[in-house]
Amino acid sequence: MTNESATRDDGTPPAFVACVWFGVFLLATIGILAATGRAAFPADFATRAEPWREQLLRAFHREDPFMLQRAAELELVDGRFAGHPFATLLHVLAGIVFLLLAPLQFSSWIRNRHLGFHRWSGRFLVVTAFVATFAGLYFGLLLPYGGPLEMAAIVFFGGMFLTAISIAVVAIRRRQVARHRKWMIRALAVALGISTVRMVAPVLDVVLTQSGVGPRLIFGLSLWTGWAITIGAAELWIASTRFRAPSLAVSVSPSTTA
Ligand code: HEM
Repeated sequence: MTNESATRDDGTPPAFVACVWFGVFLLATIGILAATGRAAFPADFATRAEPWREQLLRAFHREDPFMLQRAAELELVDGRFAGHPFATLLHVLAGIVFLLLAPLQFSSWIRNRHLGFHRWSGRFLVVTAFVATFAGLYFGLLLPYGGPLEMAAIVFFGGMFLTAISIAVVAIRRRQVARHRKWMIRALAVALGISTVRMVAPVLDVVLTQSGVGPRLIFGLSLWTGWAITIGAAELWIASTRFRAPSLAVSVSPSTTA
């Protein structure tokens, strides 16, 4: 989607760039593993992961005051995916494809050598983003585990995801490469934010559960915190980097821009 000879021209230290790539790789891997786990065990993935949670709470000498209701909570979490296998598969498979392909779109090496791949992959990513989001809205709005806090997060961040992708597509069709890049970074941040949520949730579990905060509230808080952290980091990256796009008219033909 972006121009083949466009470069970042801001003197960003290579070590910083490497750290950001590492973070993206780590978060994408976590998201892909979580989605693969749910795809493989749609009916009981949360239940299977429960021993890890117990070990974590033990390691931090934490008690769960809701232990007696735990089995019912897990059944509720797993049951929604078990009861809606098609929507579950649609969501997690589209999510896996998005997390596999989207980071590659930011590689100038790939754009410079395989612009055709970047364009077709970009078009495919738009489709997977819409599929993942609509399936996510299905769970978040019709079957929310975390109640209104989850519903609000899903509408807000799901809407942000689709808006960012739509603006990025319109931008590249108008050959506004810098704008396209900025909004694709925001879209990727929303997708990677799902993984940050998974890292934040155990932390909030350890910190809050013992003092009587229930699992549904913790889930809702994790959604907002994880997404806010990742999108905040993306905004810092956008603000601290600039993008120079040489004459688009020369190297991007209007008929082939995505
Ligand atoms: C594009 C990358 C995405 C990936 C890899 C991904 C991955 C996942 C996974 C693995 C689950 C199952 C969670 C579990 O096993 O407990 C899930 C659930 C869910 N996802 Fe996504 N997702 C993505 C995007 C989105 C987006 C953009 C939205 C917003 C609309 C969304 C909303 C949801 C909702 C509401 C649930 C159910 C949460 C619950 O109540 O338990 N996802 N997602």
